[in-house]
Amino acid sequence: RMADPFSLVIFGATGDLAKRKLFPAMFNLFKSRILPDHFLIVGVGRSIRTVDAFRQAVRNSVENYSRFQIDSEAEWSEFVRHFQYTSSDIHDDQGYREMKGIIEEHEKQLEVTFNRLFYLAIAPGLFATVSQKLKASGLAAANGYKRLIIEKPIGHDYESARELNKQIKRTFEEEEIYRIDHYLGKEMIQNIEVIRFANSLFEPLWNHRYIESVQITASETVGVEERANYYDRAGALRDMVQNHLLQMLMMVCMEPPSRLKTEAIHDEKIKVLRSLRRYGEDEVGKYFVRAQYREGKMNGKRVPAYRDEPGIDKNSMTETFVAAKLYVDNLRWAEVPFYIRTGKRMAEKVTKIIVQFKDMPKNLYFNRDNDLKPNILEISIHPEEGIKLFLNAKKPGTDNQITPIAMEYCNNCEEETPEAYESLIYDAIIGDQTYFTHWAEVALAWKFIDPVRRLWDQDPQSLQFYDSGTWGPKKAHELLAQEGHGWWPQY
Ligand code: BG6
Repeated sequence: RMADPFSLVIFGATGDLAKRKLFPAMFNLFKSRILPDHFLIVGVGRSIRTVDAFRQAVRNSVENYSRFQIDSEAEWSEFVRHFQYTSSDIHDDQGYREMKGIIEEHEKQLEVTFNRLFYLAIAPGLFATVSQKLKASGLAAANGYKRLIIEKPIGHDYESARELNKQIKRTFEEEEIYRIDHYLGKEMIQNIEVIRFANSLFEPLWNHRYIESVQITASETVGVEERANYYDRAGALRDMVQNHLLQMLMMVCMEPPSRLKTEAIHDEKIKVLRSLRRYGEDEVGKYFVRAQYREGKMNGKRVPAYRDEPGIDKNSMTETFVAAKLYVDNLRWAEVPFYIRTGKRMAEKVTKIIVQFKDMPKNLYFNRDNDLKPNILEISIHPEEGIKLFLNAKKPGTDNQITPIAMEYCNNCEEETPEAYESLIYDAIIGDQTYFTHWAEVALAWKFIDPVRRLWDQDPQSLQFYDSGTWGPKKAHELLAQEGHGWWPQY
């Protein structure tokens, strides 16, 4: 679907997110020929730059990070002519007048009305100021639509998130706020809905009667990188669990929506968070494990402990790993454990969901030769994209020996799939909020997280340690072993 003319103001246009994700995403959309003839990107940054220097920076970013190549100089000029730049201090009203001037001048020249999108690729501490100034300057008073795009962290707990939301709502309605959780932009996460609701094979089995447990893993090999300042205050619980892991959980658990409409889908997702069993501070130790990486070997190279990373306090108590056992207390999911885990400096970078079905009764095919494996549906999100269904079959040439077999579908083997930011920015342009986070999701996720955080902040003993390059601390394995389960396959 072709979008209407729009202007996209990017605050933080000289920053890392713009460079690594936003400019390449715009170029990919341009190459996919789904942008309208008229669109305008206004970069806003603190440093003083000429438009030409800014355009050169956009080019470097596209050359380094875009999935498409620039085919010719003519193509590049056609793309980059849409980019403007203005240097501005976010607190200074004059800058907003300049942005408004740039947009209005283009509208006049082209005789079109631009819808207005504002992407805040800046520190969340500035979200409230910018949104207030967007209103005061009249910049947010578009003739077409106006939309705000922001990203986590949205607050550091429920109260701070609520306060921030209140301030933003002075300028933007809920329908105008696009809260990005980039996991929702990933192809295979969007595919969960289709796999579940378009296959008669899965939906009847998708409940506590047939599902033994579900595992959600989002492991990383990178350490804290250059984000010590943010990460040491956030920790893995706020950085990954409050958003990405709970989003994956919602996609797996939600009831079928009445229609494939944003509101219906959000409603069902929100209900999952409402049903999520809340743990009191005295229960956290039983259901959650947190840990920090020590030094270790990764790809044959020694990497430092978290506490020895640049910018990290030598006594930091921040967790870089979280594992938990969650329950969704509704009829569908009664007593099915959902194991989640995420961590930095782990053995592999994997994002995966494992749905383990209940064992068959063992009276027919169970003896010493046959170790009957459970049926497993593996949904791979990264680096492979696809699904694998593990079944049992007869081992060729034997009587009744059983062997596990896999049916496999690869989502990105033939063709490169769009990047998360690409599809999310496009959705924001066309006004589809489905894969953005509703305020109620943010609020409920914090309400679930807050008691865990509070307990951990008071209880230094709760922090475990694991060697870099491993699958996390022993306790994360014990969490499953208690139920006769294990992280799948062996790790
Ligand atoms: C971000 C976190 O939201 O997600 C990072 O802030 C993390 O700490 C990243 O590295 C992981 O995203 P992906 O897409 O690489 O799995």
